[in-house]
This record gives sequence, C-alpha cells and structure tokens, in this order.
Amino acid sequence: MPHASALPVTTPPAAAQLLAPIADDMLAVDAVIRRRLDSDVVLIRTIANYIIGAGGKRLRPAVLLLIGRALGSTGSEHQELAATIEFIHTATLLHDDVVDGSDLRRGRPTSNAAFGNPASVLVGDFLYSRAFQMMVDVGSMRVMRILADATNRIAEGEVLQLLNVRDPSVTEQRYMQVVERKTATLFEAAARIGAVLAGVDTETEERCSKYGASLGKAFQVIDDVLDYSGHAEDLGKQLGDDLREGKATLPLIHALSNAPTGQRQMIEAAVRDGGGDFIAIAQIVQSSGSLQYARRIAEHEASVAHDAVSSLPMSPFRRSLLDLTSFAIDRDH
Ligand code: IPE
Ligand code: IPE
Ligand code: MG
Ligand code: MG
Repeated sequence: MPHASALPVTTPPAAAQLLAPIADDMLAVDAVIRRRLDSDVVLIRTIANYIIGAGGKRLRPAVLLLIGRALGSTGSEHQELAATIEFIHTATLLHDDVVDGSDLRRGRPTSNAAFGNPASVLVGDFLYSRAFQMMVDVGSMRVMRILADATNRIAEGEVLQLLNVRDPSVTEQRYMQVVERKTATLFEAAARIGAVLAGVDTETEERCSKYGASLGKAFQVIDDVLDYSGHAEDLGKQLGDDLREGKATLPLIHALSNAPTGQRQMIEAAVRDGGGDFIAIAQIVQSSGSLQYARRIAEHEASVAHDAVSSLPMSPFRRSLLDLTSFAIDRDH
C-alpha cells in the first residue's frame, strides 16, 4: 500500500496565475482542508491525504472565493466553505473513479487502484459527511440548503450517467442533462455561496450562479474533449477512459451522427461493448470535426459565463473570474 506522506500541494502554473488575487485565501483553505481531514482512523487519513496531497486545480473553492471577494466580502467563513466544496468534489472523485474503473488521477494511481474499491467508497463517504459537519459549523441555513441540494443533484447526475452507459443512442440533450448535474451543479453552488455570503441582491446572486453553471458546463465538455485529445502527462489522467467505459460523451455523440456509415457502426459497437480500438476511434472523432464541434459548445458556455459576471465591479477578482472562462476551454490539464 503506498503511503501518504506530507506531499506538497502543487498548483499548475496557469491556474496559479488565476489564483494570485486570492493566494492568501487559498493558503487558508489549504490549512482548513488539512485540519479537517483529521480522524483517529488511520486509513481515512492515509487515503484522504493521498488524493488531496496529489494537488488538483482547486477551481471550485477559487470560484467561491473570487465571487465573494469580487462582491466585497471579507469574512473567513468563505475559506471554511471553500474547503467544504473541495471535500464534496474530492468525495465525488473517489466515487467516480470506482464507478469509471479509472487507474490514474492527478498523476498517480487512483485511490481505488492503490487501496481498493471498498476503501475508496467509504473514504468518499467520510469526506461527504465531513463536508456536512463543516457546513453545519458555519451555521447558515441558506448555505446548507444550497449544498444539500447540490450534493443530491450531483448524485442524480452520476446515476443518470450510469443509465446512459453502453447506449449509443444517447442524445446531446441527455448528455447535457448529465453534465449540468454531475459537474455544473458544484461550480454553480460555489458561485452562489460566494454571492450569498456577500449579501448581494437576488439579481446579482442569479448572475453569479449562472456564471458557475456555465463555467462548469464548459469545463466538463472540455474534459470530455481532452479524454480524446489531451496528453496523459498533462492531464494526470488516462486518455480513453470514457470510451473504455462505453460512455458516449459529446465528441462521440457528434461523430455518431456525422461519421460515414462504416465508422459509425464501429463506434456504436465500441460503445455497446465498452471498449474498441481507442486510437482508431479517436481518429474518427478528430476527422469528423467532433472535437471542434464540442469545443464550440464549450466556448459558447464560457462566453455565457463571461457575460454573466462582466457587470461586476472592476477588480483583480473579477479579472480572474473572466480569465477562468478562457482557462476552462484552453487548458491542457
Ligand atoms: C475533475 O475535475 C472532474 C470533472 C468535473 C471533469 P477537476 O479537473 O477540477 O479535478 P482536479 O480537482 O483539478 O483534480
Ligand atoms: C466528472 O466526470 C465526474 C464528476 C463530476 C464527479 P468524469 O468521469 O469525466 O471525470 P474524470 O474525467 O474522471 O475526472
Ligand atoms: Mg471519471
Ligand atoms: Mg473525464
């Protein structure tokens, strides 16, 4: 069993720039995360440190903090709640890697690969429930409702996705329904909480929440593009996980209705069998213009996010929020 020592938390350079205006907040969030990982059950500490110590971009906590600071709030409950959001995110990753049978995350073997499925599922449960303890400590009924609803909706998204697996007739609409729930929801909750803590009017809160939701959609669509076209060393994840699992994501859905008949049949069989020749199918996805198509959809979502916060008062925080919309679509990790 690999042992989790105190590994440095690494933030990739592009993300680090975006986070510069909230660098102190992010350090505080890191301290909250480390303090709140505490448990006298050693395996919990080991696995939680293993995945959290591997880094991660910390985009969801950043969105909460940037929105909050852009709207002028100065309190420290942002940091607690930003850490809470990261715990929920990490719990979903632990569970997601079990469900997806993934081997690599954040540049190292997934927790399920290193410690087994049962331990990963249970430590995911620990992180979820720890997140709930943390939000109760903050004591805002409004925030608790947002996070309880978001967590519930993410679970719906993951189950909906499960129902779509190995089904080549999945439509773009069914795909987006999954994306909205499994990924956009948490970005949306992060943004909304940032606004709620700042005590802004309903219209501003809705705009911020729209920002989070659209950023999250753009982010997931690009994740699905990178699953066909990225580099494992940059991503810290293996390519082809989606196809291997029989998951029809946007690039594949587009190729299924645009590739010539023979190629289409090959993709259909791969989805149905949960496998197929990844290199050949990635080539078809590329030559059908499907990666470009998916990118255009992501770009549209990113521009909706951009517009949603462009009327916030000018500040380095708003600048980062806007830059994040470009990062979501231009990233290689
Ligand atoms: C991975 O999220 C899961 C998706 C929604 C695609 P991130 O890409 O934000 O993961 P980390 O936290 O940076 O590793
Ligand atoms: C995102 O979907 C998972 C969650 C939102 C929990 P993916 O399955 O595409 O995420 P990765 O690629 O494993 O990070
Ligand atoms: Mg996955
Ligand atoms: Mg993915």
